[in-house]
Amino acid sequence: MLANIKNAADFIRKATSFEPETGIILGTGLGGLVNEIEIAHTLAYENIPNFPLSTVEGHSGKLILGKLGNKKVVAMQGRFHFYEGYDMQEVTFPIRVLKYLGIRELFLSNASGGVNPDFEIGDLMIINDHINHFPSNPLIGANIPELGPRFPDMSEAYDPELIGKAKKVAHALGIPVQEGVYLGLSGPTFETPAEYKYMRVLGADTVGMSTVPEVIVARHMGIACFAISIITDLGVPGKIVKITHEEVQHVAALAEKKMTQIMKEMMK
Ligand code: HPA
Repeated sequence: MLANIKNAADFIRKATSFEPETGIILGTGLGGLVNEIEIAHTLAYENIPNFPLSTVEGHSGKLILGKLGNKKVVAMQGRFHFYEGYDMQEVTFPIRVLKYLGIRELFLSNASGGVNPDFEIGDLMIINDHINHFPSNPLIGANIPELGPRFPDMSEAYDPELIGKAKKVAHALGIPVQEGVYLGLSGPTFETPAEYKYMRVLGADTVGMSTVPEVIVARHMGIACFAISIITDLGVPGKIVKITHEEVQHVAALAEKKMTQIMKEMMK
């Protein structure tokens, strides 16, 4: 595993001398951020040794290195989801490679269903904590001490300083933001009304199918994480309607500008 990670990182370092300090996963709602990057180098996932390949429509697979604001960033255009059939190690492999490229912080975005009755469709939520409801954990198996400890602390999975900065930035931009707990689960089914109710009882504000594995692996390696979610549908009793992937994408596209502005300001 470690050899595969280093192999991929060595390949990237040979391809470009660019040294990123910040990683970005261009999840749902952040696709447009790529237009703000002064691109130094682009690498297709398929050319990077040991990288998994994207399968989902609307998620192309590229690593983009360049400057965003004052930061040297490496952006993942396309992420790997557990529901696609990748195992947890594959889902999180790129994050480990980014660590070996030198990143110290990771920014993520996603789409989610709101289960907090105060939320509305189109709201943005800063994730301040998560619940791992995936059937597994990416750190199961032999620990690699060079990456991090056997039993990593998760008391500050989402960096309080970055959360504070994001709230200031959003306020200054006049963009309202919610804050709360993201529950990550496998999908690919959306939830039944009973499941949404159950997620709420568990302590979730939103539910979605990504982010948690990547954040676990990043925290294992001591990387500071920041994530925002776009609420694309509601799992709130009385407000539940039929939902499709297209509808999720549509709502996310409408909120993309707000999300991009916040992330861009965060890079200053
Ligand atoms: N559930 C799970 N994942 C999601 C949802 C949802 O309601 N909306 C967007 N991603």
